[in-house]
Amino acid sequence: MIKTIAIEQLRVGMYVTALDRSWLDHSLLVTRFLVKDPAMLRKVCDAGIRYVSIDTEKGLDIPPEAPEVSVPQVELPVDAPARALRVAALEERPRAEALFGEATALVKGLMQDARVGNPLDLEQLEPVAERMIGSVLRNPHALLSVCRLKRKDEYTFMHSVSVAALMVAFACLRGQSEDEMRALAKGALLHDVGKVLVPDTILNKPGKLSAQEMARMRAHVNDGATLLRDRNLPDIALDVVTGHHERMDGSGYPEGLAGEAMSQAMRMSAIVDVYDALTSVRVYKDAWEPSFALKKLLEWSPAQFDATLVQQFIRCIGIYPVGSMVELSSGRVGFVVDQGEDIRQPVVRVVYHARHRHYVMPQTIDLSLARDEAIVRVVSPAQFGIPAAEFV
Ligand SMILES: [Fe+2]
Repeated sequence: MIKTIAIEQLRVGMYVTALDRSWLDHSLLVTRFLVKDPAMLRKVCDAGIRYVSIDTEKGLDIPPEAPEVSVPQVELPVDAPARALRVAALEERPRAEALFGEATALVKGLMQDARVGNPLDLEQLEPVAERMIGSVLRNPHALLSVCRLKRKDEYTFMHSVSVAALMVAFACLRGQSEDEMRALAKGALLHDVGKVLVPDTILNKPGKLSAQEMARMRAHVNDGATLLRDRNLPDIALDVVTGHHERMDGSGYPEGLAGEAMSQAMRMSAIVDVYDALTSVRVYKDAWEPSFALKKLLEWSPAQFDATLVQQFIRCIGIYPVGSMVELSSGRVGFVVDQGEDIRQPVVRVVYHARHRHYVMPQTIDLSLARDEAIVRVVSPAQFGIPAAEFV
């Protein structure tokens, strides 16, 4: 589709098909081109053009507006502050990166064993779950920020590790015991193990699944439960495996459980599984901005998700989760690198200026201490052609 957009909306990855002035009037020699990098974007922006037409079939489309998420009023368990931070996210980050890599390799190994019919050595889950709890207790936002850097080719394994990290952080904020956190982590690491029986052509299909393919995909829940039967896993862990696609209104699968029939672990895993899938790049979609995904979870509760748990989950990861990009009142743009006591005022590392459209000297700003800076909106790195992976 051809769309005409203001020059401010142009970003790296878009394919330009027409400019609002003849090429004779400006310095660009061609009028049909892919905006390949930030330098090229700057050149177009500096050429005195106000509008361009883009072809959304040959390049990126304009992103959906990232709406602001109102701050939910959430009652915290009384012992939550006692478990609070710990160390700065940046200090915990190297340990979190190593843990994420090892946990991904573990899940991959277990799934390969399941694929060829080898017995699953579930003892290996114990030390990984333990280290996840340790990392989350020191600072959950380090591991959660690492979890955002998933690769499409390793998605199933990395998604399992992300869901485990999010579940441990969620349970920690709710004041659940370490035994419960351990069980939730194990269940989450194994929650999609049944996908080993789903053909890659279905798992990686970019388009819509046929009814038959959808049925095969959905069978991963019962297949996973079968693979893990009689393996001495705690009930909480099995609930994560069997219940992460159930919905409060009974519209989920495989059992169509509703309301009270869904245990707390099932309700938590349903929220976390959807949040992580929405905020990940898939073969068929871009990653959603975290605040947009959280807004959707609020919209879909209480019908599909437990509303109180959704609010607690937002309190857990923040309305601007680590890795989110935000614009500040000064016009500076940066990435959230840590959370403080007030989730409306995280720590932001600024790298760019939205109005001046150039990079700025990186600076870390704790918004809870900054009198003259506040978040005005959530933005997308792609809007400015900023390579997020280099900063997050
Ligand atoms: Fe699943």
